[in-house]
Amino acid sequence: MYKVILKPSNEVIKIDGNINLLEALREKGVYIKSSCGGVASCSDCIVKILSGEDHLEPPPFEEIKFLGNVFHITKERLACQLKINGDITIDIAHHDKDADQEKLRQKTSKNIKRRKKKDFEAKPLPEEKPQEEPGWVKHWEKDPTDKKMKRFGGGNKPHLFRTDHLEEEELKKEEKDFRKTRKK
Ligand code: FES
Repeated sequence: MYKVILKPSNEVIKIDGNINLLEALREKGVYIKSSCGGVASCSDCIVKILSGEDHLEPPPFEEIKFLGNVFHITKERLACQLKINGDITIDIAHHDKDADQEKLRQKTSKNIKRRKKKDFEAKPLPEEKPQEEPGWVKHWEKDPTDKKMKRFGGGNKPHLFRTDHLEEEELKKEEKDFRKTRKK
């Protein structure tokens, strides 16, 4: 167990070095803002290291990708990615639960107001669409002066289906058969 001094409250807590600082502080009831749930994608959980730099585990790839390799300048680490192996002092002054809750409340009430206003605003009636003219017509009924009308392919009036030639052939065949039987 390692000692963590929290500034500006000067509260001292003891935490387990096997879990990350965010989880450890939460277990002790210390508020640290987090929007991503500890997956290094929101940067809300940043804490400033005031002392004990040598007791920090090196930043994992996810943290470097997000914050860059500038700890020696900023002294900032993501609490959700930080593990410690000794005593440290951190500044968590900007993690203010009441202020964050108030911001959230304001944001939510603004959204509700905006939504209500939007819901009750008179919506204009949708414009009536002009009746569409039929695109396809029988080309033999086509008005030659109308250029918009589309034509079926071929350009000729379709012929009726003929069966009279079949009947003729049938008669001829029957006559032929009849003659054959008479010869016998
Ligand atoms: S909790 Fe989101 S980056 Fe740490």
